Amino acid sequence: MEVVVFGAGSLGSLLGGLLAREHRVTLVGRDPHVSAIRRDGLQISGTIETHVSPDATTDGIGLEADLALVTVKSYDTDEAARTLSTGEFGAVCSLQNGLGNEQRLERELDCHVLAGTASYGARLMGPGEVECTGIGRVALGPPDGGGSVLAAEVGEAFTEATVETTVAADMPRRLWEKCAVNAGVNPVTALTGTENGAVLGEPARPIAREAARETARVARETGVDLPDEAATSALHRVVRATSENTSSMAQDIERGRRTEIDAINGYVVERAVEPVPTNALLVGLVKTLENSRELR
Ligand code: PAF
Repeated sequence: MEVVVFGAGSLGSLLGGLLAREHRVTLVGRDPHVSAIRRDGLQISGTIETHVSPDATTDGIGLEADLALVTVKSYDTDEAARTLSTGEFGAVCSLQNGLGNEQRLERELDCHVLAGTASYGARLMGPGEVECTGIGRVALGPPDGGGSVLAAEVGEAFTEATVETTVAADMPRRLWEKCAVNAGVNPVTALTGTENGAVLGEPARPIAREAARETARVARETGVDLPDEAATSALHRVVRATSENTSSMAQDIERGRRTEIDAINGYVVERAVEPVPTNALLVGLVKTLENSRELR
C-alpha cells in the first residue's frame, strides 16, 4: 500500500516508520527532520528498534497514495485538509487528538475519511530519530460507526506491518472515551508541569475525574453511549499505564507551543447542553497561560 503520513511529528514518524517496514511511505514534515530522513533514513529506538528509509518531503502539495494518515496537531487540521485536497487519495484517516477532526477533513476532501485513535507512545529524539516509548494500539473505522471494507483493508495493511490494530465499528464511543481521558490528564498536567501519574494523586484526582465525567455526559448528550464509569476507568487505566510520561499538552507548554485545548476540553464546552464547569475552568486557565506566553 502507498501511504502518505501528513504530519511527521513524534506519532506520525513512529507509525510512518513502522508502516515503512512493509509499505511505500512518504512522510510530510518539517526540516531538519525531513532532510535527516532523506539523507540517513529514520531510526526508531526504544521499545521497538529498527531503521527504515521512507520518502520524506516538506511539500504536501499534489501527493497521491492509497491512504493519507493525518497526524498534525488538531489546530492545523483545516490547513492539512486544504493541502491534501490538492492530491489524490483512496482514503484519509485521522489519528489526531481531540474531536471534530474528521468532520473538518470531510469538508475539504472528496475521498472517504476514517477516524482513528493511537495509543503508541512516541517521542522525537532529534532530526531523523524517534523513540517508541510504549507499544500501543491503533483503532480505526468509519467516524460515524459501523463497518466498512475500506477500514478493513487499512487495518489489514497496518497488521501486515506489525502495527497492533483493531478495526472498530464503535469509533464515536472510542473517540469520546479518548477525549475524556485527555480532558482529565492533559490540562491538569500542562498547568502544573507534572507527569501523568500526578493526576491520580490528591488533590488533582477529583478535578481530572470530574473533567472526564463531564465529557462522558456531553458524549451522551450527542447520542454516544459512554457511561461516567467507563470514562473514569479509562482515565485510571491510561494514567496507570503512562504514569511516568509527560502528556502531549504538558510537552507543548514546556516547549513553548500552542496546545490542543480547543479540540479537547474546548470541544466539550462547545458541544455541552448542560454546564460543564470543570472543563470550562480548565479551558480558561490553559488559554490564559497560552496568552501570557503569546502561544496563540
Ligand atoms: O495526549 C497525550 O499525551 C496522551 O493522549 C495521553 C493518553 C494523555 C498519554 O500521555
